[in-house]
Amino acid sequence: MDLLKWSKRPAAGVNARKPQVNVVRGLVARATTPLLPDDYLRLINPLWTARELRGKVVDVVKETADSATVTIRPGWGFPATYEPGQYVGIGLRIGGRWHWRSYSLTSIGSSSDTTISITVKANPDGFLSTHLVDGVQPDTIIRLAAPKGDFHLPEPVPGRILFVTAGSGITPVIAMLRALEARGDAPDICHVHAAPTRDDVIFVDEMQARAADADHYDLTIQFTREMGHFDVARLDEWVPDWRERECWACGPPSLLDAMESHYEAGGLRERLHTERFTISRTDHGAEGGKVRFAVSGREAEIDGATTLLEAGEELGITMPFGCRMGICQTCVVPLAGGYVRDLRTGAERREGERIQTCISSVSGECTLDL
Ligand SMILES: Cc1cc2nc3c(=O)[nH]c(=O)nc-3n(C[C@H](O)[C@H](O)[C@H](O)COP(=O)(O)OP(=O)(O)OC[C@H]3O[C@@H](n4cnc5c(N)ncnc54)[C@H](O)[C@@H]3O)c2cc1C
Ligand code: FES
Repeated sequence: MDLLKWSKRPAAGVNARKPQVNVVRGLVARATTPLLPDDYLRLINPLWTARELRGKVVDVVKETADSATVTIRPGWGFPATYEPGQYVGIGLRIGGRWHWRSYSLTSIGSSSDTTISITVKANPDGFLSTHLVDGVQPDTIIRLAAPKGDFHLPEPVPGRILFVTAGSGITPVIAMLRALEARGDAPDICHVHAAPTRDDVIFVDEMQARAADADHYDLTIQFTREMGHFDVARLDEWVPDWRERECWACGPPSLLDAMESHYEAGGLRERLHTERFTISRTDHGAEGGKVRFAVSGREAEIDGATTLLEAGEELGITMPFGCRMGICQTCVVPLAGGYVRDLRTGAERREGERIQTCISSVSGECTLDL
């Protein structure tokens, strides 16, 4: 038992579903220490590393004018199966810095799959999504964070389901639809999707073909440019029995806020499951200042738009993270000293409070026990 722990310890930071993979990683790391184990492994294959999950971009295929599916071959340690609807962390090195974002998996996670896929909509003001849609080249090596999230279907699958999606919010739901089909499950599904025009609908052919073939899948697409915005009050007209269905909804904040209020008002909040891709930020920046990472003995001077998570990663510190959006709570740590500001609300937090490093920046000075 102790030998097993000793073997795994060097790979403790790697989130692998099969523990034996970390035993191999750990042993390789120990066999090559004090030299640099990752350097040896990368010489043999750039996807092999004792410390982190990596992947190689295999293919990038356009779905619409501003979206693309990126297929990735994960390296050692990436779980062979995951829940359709979960998301992964994707890290790309651009301009000498690692940039991380979260993307829902559009692949379905079967043990025979050697690749995973994500489908990205380019945000015209965004940094990484435009690069993933228009700039990332096959063979690029990326970093991965293991699949996470509880936006997925339960077991057993409910008999009657409602999916409400808009824009890129289709991604986790298409994975659920594909997985149900692959398993031969046929619950009664109503799906309402919104996008500006037909040309903007990601996976439109696939969804319409499924609706034409399968009696149990009813699809309503709201083309918002000609039909007006998604109006939650029209659920009664689109899906008269929506109250009796378990609902999964993913789309922009305005749609999800409206859905949550509607379900709340109907006393049905527990029937609604939502996935948010973005948080609302206030205009309040933090002041910026000095961040100390007490355990690692490092510090950095950052501006008020840089998060504590980004600051730690920039210094090479292993920082816990999940969604990087203030949603999942994986990054929560106690504030060991000083002040930070929550970039969503502008609220200041002080020593002793628990903070989310992904949406907090420093106000003057702060210390984290990392
Ligand atoms: C769980 C989860 C799953 C997701 N799945 C998908 C998916 O399947 N497909 C998909 O396309 N996207 C998905 N996303 C969204 C994705 O992670 C990215 O947020 C998105 O691609 C935009 O990234 P970007 O680098 O292009 O934009 P960023 O550069 O991060 O900017 C995004 C927007 O925020 C603004 N912004 C950036 N920094 C600041 C700041 N300091 N203050 C104020 N505003 C700022 C920008 O102007 C821009 O409008 C998901 C997100 C989460 C949390
Ligand atoms: S990483 Fe998810 S809340 Fe911070």
